[in-house]
Amino acid sequence: MEFSLLQKFGAALLISAWLVWGSNIVADILVPVPEAARVAEAPAATPAAAQPAELPEEPQEIGPLLAAASADAGERVYNRCKACHTIEQGGQHRVGPNLWDIVGAPKAAKDGFSYSAALAGMAGEWTYENLDHFLANPKGYVEGTKMSFAGLRKASDRAAVILYLRDHAENPPPLP
Ligand code: HEC
Repeated sequence: MEFSLLQKFGAALLISAWLVWGSNIVADILVPVPEAARVAEAPAATPAAAQPAELPEEPQEIGPLLAAASADAGERVYNRCKACHTIEQGGQHRVGPNLWDIVGAPKAAKDGFSYSAALAGMAGEWTYENLDHFLANPKGYVEGTKMSFAGLRKASDRAAVILYLRDHAENPPPLP
């Protein structure tokens, strides 16, 4: 049987179209579209109302917030850290390092804990302000940190837990 050039060309076109279509389906199965992309495709319902609730309150002047905070409230907030941290003196490292005496301590300096390169590479101490920024948005403050914690949205929660950390420190810097 002889095929004309046109017939061959047509068949080749059909086959390649089929291949593209087929591989698309296979790709869809193998690589599910991430949730974020789906959401982005969907028409935004009430973006103005929905968004701010997700964003952390901007770190503000920490002094007045600390003055208004209570360590009791901080202990309750600290429940959200417990899965990964201990706080008592000599406590073990868990997913995260022991947090005894962290206020005023150099960053990433707890013996025997294996920090991310990102945090290990950061200079300076955990001042009240630094802690506030870090706890508002860990991944924003230390890009590449392995602390997989979304952050504390409320400035008052952050101040309370920082006060609680301060209560578990040997020689914390004076309150700002
Ligand atoms: C899902 C586990 C997890 C939770 C929850 C978590 N952390 Fe962490 N945290 C980590 C890890 C892991 C690190 C080490 C980060 C790195 O090396 O990048 C860390 C590091 C830290 C550091 C820096 C320690 C240092 O030695 O420099 C502080 C401070 C801290 N966390 C405070 C908190 C507080 C306060 C909370 C609760 C509000 C909390 N973390 C919740 C896992 C967690």
